[in-house]
Amino acid sequence: MGEKTFYITTPIYYVNDLPHIGHAFTTILADVTARYKRLLGYDVFFLTGTDEHGQKAERAARQRGIPPQELADRVVENYARLWARLGIQYSRFIRTTEPVHRRAVQKFFRRLVDRGDIYKGVYEGWYCPGCEAFVPEGSVADGLHTDCGRAVERLQEDSYFFRLSRYQEPLREYYRAHPEFIQPEARYNEVVRFVEAGLKDLSVSRRTVRWGIPVPDDPDHVIYVWLDALTNYISALGWADGDPLYERYWPADVHLVGKDILRFHCVYWPAFLMSAGLPLPRQVFGHGWWLRAQSKMSKSLGNIISPEELLEFSSPDMIRYYLVREAPLDVDSDFSYEGYQTRVNADLANDYGNLIHRLTSMLARFCEGRVPDSSRLDGEMVTIRSDLEGWVSRLEAWVDRWAYPELRREAWVHVQRLNGLLARREPWRLMRDASTRVEAQALLGFVTEALRLITVGVWPVIPFGAGAFLERLRQPVPPSRDHLAWGVLPPGTPVAPGPELYPRIELPEEVRLEAPLVPASSVTSPSREGLTMIDLQTFMQVDLRVGEIVAAEPIEKSKKLLKLTVDLGSERRQVVAGIAQYYRPEELRGRKVVVVANLEPAVLMGTESQGMILAADVDGRPYLLEVPAEVPNGSRVR
Ligand code: ME8
Ligand code: MG
Repeated sequence: MGEKTFYITTPIYYVNDLPHIGHAFTTILADVTARYKRLLGYDVFFLTGTDEHGQKAERAARQRGIPPQELADRVVENYARLWARLGIQYSRFIRTTEPVHRRAVQKFFRRLVDRGDIYKGVYEGWYCPGCEAFVPEGSVADGLHTDCGRAVERLQEDSYFFRLSRYQEPLREYYRAHPEFIQPEARYNEVVRFVEAGLKDLSVSRRTVRWGIPVPDDPDHVIYVWLDALTNYISALGWADGDPLYERYWPADVHLVGKDILRFHCVYWPAFLMSAGLPLPRQVFGHGWWLRAQSKMSKSLGNIISPEELLEFSSPDMIRYYLVREAPLDVDSDFSYEGYQTRVNADLANDYGNLIHRLTSMLARFCEGRVPDSSRLDGEMVTIRSDLEGWVSRLEAWVDRWAYPELRREAWVHVQRLNGLLARREPWRLMRDASTRVEAQALLGFVTEALRLITVGVWPVIPFGAGAFLERLRQPVPPSRDHLAWGVLPPGTPVAPGPELYPRIELPEEVRLEAPLVPASSVTSPSREGLTMIDLQTFMQVDLRVGEIVAAEPIEKSKKLLKLTVDLGSERRQVVAGIAQYYRPEELRGRKVVVVANLEPAVLMGTESQGMILAADVDGRPYLLEVPAEVPNGSRVR
């Protein structure tokens, strides 16, 4: 006991559908945070589960001709299997059909009754006789139920209501006093606007639904599925039975949800809790959506990407890495197979996986498969080491802000620096000479320790590969806070050989052949807009040449630009390139590149640029094109 606790939850998912990458995204993100918090020394409780009651589940079961409980059991098995494969380490998987949950919901409902916040009234809405259910306003068009196409009728039924209107002011006051309660900021503003527009009392029971938890003392009514579902966050801790887990972990530190269910978590749930006299969660984080060709994934649009499908040709770490690195949490992100392939091949197969592979092969060849002493660092190593320590010291702040893109970006800058260091210093060459052998071994020892430290720091994101590498270094998995420091690996530690951790992936044929998904609203793809066809002669007017970077330096006051001197065979050119955030000057020297040699000179930040270097643009990140070393400077490219 004594250590700091951290309680994190995901939504509990409906059982009328199979999981897709949207569900995986929330759950992976929560798992990554839970793992970071454990790594940083917190006592973490991580809850996920399934929302099994209500009209949707009832209807889905009826369509399949099975009892709702059986449908739920099947879908839960799917979730459990998928979460295990993706490395989701939850503390508890709550199902709303568990008796402990039913007891909690009924007790919670009674609390609201005792507070005088529940009264009986009449609920009026659109009723679909075909579906035997009230349907939301949004699912009715021209008098028809949009899901099934049948006519709806206006109907009334007795219902219990919750006095939500009573909580309008207390909620506004709470938001004002706790601006961190709703994140990110745009979501906060949405919720505040919604509440300020006025809150009506909420119907919290249904007579037309059978599959649910009965209202205490009035079993003709079933408790509204959202009141039932939200209670999971305390029922799972055994709140109804006086379980010490509740005392230990409630209130939750964060409910992670998609922005689709923000209102339930930021308005209804805190109002219920206020009424019941229980503490409120500290934060609700509502992330954006994963889209496919600009639309939200949904079964009816047939644009769902399932994690299982990705697992057929890639790996759990790749899915975790891609979803966490790619998604800015305050806006929506579009999923593309090509983007997925490019990203994981570049970052995991090439940058990180390859570095581990090269390093461990060299340790086997040059150091008898043991970690050499790395206590003597030269100036450059000292700089890298202190940059890495700086990165480690910022991990927790990034995690608390959900700033995973930043955390990851900086980690990969370090990976690339280590790759650059090996490429430039060529330890395999130093090994040939007895006088430089010690230097080569010190270098390899340094890179091993640096890579170990980076690996501990990214382990929560890619636990399978990172864990395997740590095990090869005889390090404990899971790692703990003590391992987030320099100098942990004792010299002489044997390093086990192992298979490639991240083999490159290829997209399966059925994915490559799939017609590109283009949103109906923009039939021409935006990246092609404004580009016209050109003939060969026009193309030949572009003078592309192979050049070698002979000097590279930063440009004062510019974070993005580097000044390069490029040898084009017959002449040298000064070229300004916007690559400073991705390449370090010392890794550029000696590199062959493709230069647009007849571009009009331009002046950037006071420095003249006499050409342009070709690079692939991957979401704004440049990848310099590579040229084989034997191609002479000045060769024409066409
Ligand atoms: O709403 N992009 O369950 P649900 C990102 N049972 N995240 C997505 C997504 C997408 N395209 N699609 C789904 C329910 N999600 C209720 C919750 S909680 C007390 C009850 C994720 O199965 C996201 O977290 O419809 C979203 O909020 C959740 O799945 C909705 O899951
Ligand atoms: Mg939904």
